[in-house]
Amino acid sequence: MHLLRVTLLQALLLLVAFACAEPIRRIPADAAAAVAVARAAPDSPSGKYAPKVVPCPAVRPRIRPAGGVSPNETAWLQLRRRATVQPMIDFMQRVGIPNFDAAGYIRSAAAAPGIPNLPNVAIAASGGGYRALMNGAGFLAAADNRTTDALAKGGIGGLLQSTTYLAGLSGGGWLVSSIYANNFSSVETLRNGRKDSSIWKFGNSIFIGPKESGIDIFNTAEYWTAVARQVDQKDEAGFNTSLTDYWGRALSYQLVDAPDGGPAYTWSSIAEDESFKRGLVPFPILVADARAPGETIISLNATVFEFNAFEMGSFDPTTFGFTPVNYLASNFSGGVVPANGKCVEGFDQVGYVMGTSSTLFNQFLLNNISSVASVPKFVVDAIEKILEDLSDDRNDIAQYAPNPFLGWKPDTNPSADAAELDLVDGGEDLQNIPLHPLIQPFRKVDVIFAVDSSADTIYNWPNGTAMRASYERSLGPLANGTLFPPVPDDKTFVNLGLNNKPTFFGCDVRNFTLRGSQSAPPLIVYIPNAPYTASSNVSTFTPSYTDEVRNNIIRNGLNAATQGNGTLDANWPTCVACAVLSRSLTRSATPVPAACADCFAKYCWTGKLDPVDRGRPYEPPYKIANETASALSGAGRAVFTDRAALLSLAVGLVALLLAV
Ligand SMILES: *[C@@H]1O[C@H](CO)[C@@H](O)[C@H](O)[C@H]1NC(C)=O
Ligand SMILES: *[C@@H]1O[C@H](CO)[C@@H](O)[C@H](O)[C@H]1NC(C)=O
Ligand SMILES: *[C@@H]1O[C@H](CO)[C@@H](O)[C@H](O)[C@H]1NC(C)=O
Ligand SMILES: *[C@@H]1O[C@H](CO)[C@@H](O)[C@H](O)[C@H]1NC(C)=O
Ligand SMILES: *[C@@H]1O[C@H](CO)[C@@H](O)[C@H](O)[C@H]1NC(C)=O
Ligand SMILES: *[C@@H]1O[C@H](CO)[C@@H](O)[C@H](O)[C@H]1NC(C)=O
Ligand SMILES: *[C@@H]1O[C@H](CO)[C@@H](O)[C@H](O)[C@H]1NC(C)=O
Ligand SMILES: *[C@@H]1O[C@H](CO)[C@@H](O)[C@H](O)[C@H]1NC(C)=O
Ligand SMILES: *[C@@H]1O[C@H](CO)[C@@H](O)[C@H](O)[C@H]1NC(C)=O
Ligand SMILES: *[C@@H]1O[C@H](CO)[C@@H](O)[C@H](O)[C@H]1NC(C)=O
Ligand SMILES: *[C@@H]1O[C@H](CO)[C@@H](O)[C@H](O)[C@H]1NC(C)=O
Ligand SMILES: *[C@@H]1O[C@H](CO)[C@@H](O)[C@H](O)[C@H]1NC(C)=O
Repeated sequence: MHLLRVTLLQALLLLVAFACAEPIRRIPADAAAAVAVARAAPDSPSGKYAPKVVPCPAVRPRIRPAGGVSPNETAWLQLRRRATVQPMIDFMQRVGIPNFDAAGYIRSAAAAPGIPNLPNVAIAASGGGYRALMNGAGFLAAADNRTTDALAKGGIGGLLQSTTYLAGLSGGGWLVSSIYANNFSSVETLRNGRKDSSIWKFGNSIFIGPKESGIDIFNTAEYWTAVARQVDQKDEAGFNTSLTDYWGRALSYQLVDAPDGGPAYTWSSIAEDESFKRGLVPFPILVADARAPGETIISLNATVFEFNAFEMGSFDPTTFGFTPVNYLASNFSGGVVPANGKCVEGFDQVGYVMGTSSTLFNQFLLNNISSVASVPKFVVDAIEKILEDLSDDRNDIAQYAPNPFLGWKPDTNPSADAAELDLVDGGEDLQNIPLHPLIQPFRKVDVIFAVDSSADTIYNWPNGTAMRASYERSLGPLANGTLFPPVPDDKTFVNLGLNNKPTFFGCDVRNFTLRGSQSAPPLIVYIPNAPYTASSNVSTFTPSYTDEVRNNIIRNGLNAATQGNGTLDANWPTCVACAVLSRSLTRSATPVPAACADCFAKYCWTGKLDPVDRGRPYEPPYKIANETASALSGAGRAVFTDRAALLSLAVGLVALLLAV
């Protein structure tokens, strides 16, 4: 009896020691090799942050009317659509739709001339600062076949490889830009970081700056001095600078893995990259709104602009034009750079473009920088000087001067007479998810995975406001042929929990009134930020995050994308596959597989309403478990499960000990 007790006690101690030991972090085999390598190129003609006047090309840059996608996008799509076939077959094969040969369906869709029935997939990452970057990153990590365990049971890995369009707005735009500026690195690679690099190290706020500039060890004064010098170069080259320049530069130190945040990296260089040219990665798009001259409030009537791999401009009936993105700041007039006008390149600096989509944070910079003691006075002075030049209600603008759309569409373009085009944060019109580029009929998108990290409620959770805004706009004068699935009011969103679990909108194509050759808009798979395993509702203006908090929020986003690797619904990956196929099945008049009908019954919004104010703040409980205890951070599922098993074994042993 005594001996048994001792042996049991020893076993117990051993088990407890095992269970409590810091779990072994599973590092992917290729982690060492998977160094984030800058991919967008430092191809600014000045070699620095400043744009530069260049000789105009033989065919002078022109604005084109927005009656379709660009010839370059059309040509590129031929490659990309083909390149999504095998990943989609692999995805369907792995995920499986019971009693339906989904892989075979994709194969035959791919064999048909013009591939009209091949699903066309898009992903949209909303705004919401670092919260949106991290939560959106969790979705992309889940969808990426390169992520550790993304191809395990319950995973949705390969969806990203099957995607044609990847759009970001504000904080979601930081995510998209960071991925493309770093050789389409995976989220896991960016999160793991690199020695001597400040990539995705959010522990040092943007106000304090990184510990390393890429080669040197930095301090706050040196960092801000470098930022100010870069912005000065742009000023000295004769271009207007604004808070957006400072903001974009500062962001780049965390998001572009190159010395000094890659001052010479341009947005247009993404299109010059080999794997982009071969159609091996999706088409990146960022969204911003235009502020019409004299306007202070941005309403749903603001013109929505996009920066895509080739162009910048708008499909809206107001501006209705696109300019080549590499020639921004050239002297366009009436849609062309005239003989006496200059051509400019390098204005589309990648940090400036992501700063443009997120100008909401200009105010944040302004309000907080002077309270950081080690920021040199001349930097604070320079930033405050901008305020003297701009009135208070205009400090959120990114200036595009000269205005590329000067004299373009004078009857409808609100900025046609303005010397500069003012762009602001894409979320200021409340359309905080970048859906606008993806509902354009010319793009023929079938399904949008819309990751919403908006802070609508008092505790920073989304409540469908962004979806509602896009729906309302589609009913108004600026719709210009776009359609949007009906979505309910905010109270219904909250009362029915549509903001707490994935919800499909626009399932039934018979509900749309289609005119002429119009086809149904995309099905929207709405993935709202919710507490799966972490409190991912951090404030939009929290400036720094420990690696642990960052990883917890990314994992929370991954758990939203996979429904906890299928623990909340083992059929979820199948339902993702059904969402991908839905529009295509309709087009090819293929009966909906029974398993998909079950998914649609479970996830589609039926039109039910509950617009009652229950007068309670929305405080959702954890959907899986609070995994934010520090011992668990970085632990994979297998480790967690093993530890839980060990602990329950230990509990059993204690019971036995007490009994004997
Ligand atoms: C991910 O997808 C790409 C594109 O289909 C493929 O080349 C690659 O081998 C896949 N990687 C894994 C780990 O499956
Ligand atoms: C970028 O990534 C691709 C695909 O992983 C790789 O083949 C290429 O070598 C990388 N480019 C650079 C400059 O490292
Ligand atoms: C938008 O424009 C329409 C038509 O011009 C107008 O009726 C509506 O009031 C405007 N909405 C806002 C929010 O300005
Ligand atoms: C678009 O394609 C044309 C040739 O078809 C090329 O000259 C031009 O540089 C491309 N534009 C961009 C922005 O890549
Ligand atoms: C969209 O707007 C443009 C420019 O105003 C117009 O020419 C075009 O016909 C509109 N398209 C639709 C489908 O309304
Ligand atoms: C070109 O743009 C610059 C900057 O706005 C301006 O100073 C210059 O006068 C313009 N030149 C022409 C020919 O339009
Ligand atoms: C920082 O900026 C935010 C947003 O503008 C503001 O709410 C906050 O009070 C500022 N913090 C400090 C310390 O000034
Ligand atoms: C800079 O902005 C000011 C005021 O916003 C404007 O008057 C001026 O023309 C702009 N300069 C350039 C070079 O565009
Ligand atoms: C939803 O969010 C908006 C802000 O985006 C807020 O005004 C509204 O009160 C919220 N409604 C509910 C029911 O949470
Ligand atoms: C899902 O799998 C990922 C990758 O292994 C893991 O990090 C995460 O904790 C898992 N989620 C749950 C709820 O087990
Ligand atoms: C679609 O139409 C049906 C029949 O009119 C209706 O019952 C349903 O609520 C509609 N669905 C949505 C999402 O509006
Ligand atoms: C989740 O767990 C952490 C660590 O134990 C704790 O600090 C935090 O308060 C918990 N969150 C909630 C909302 O219970």
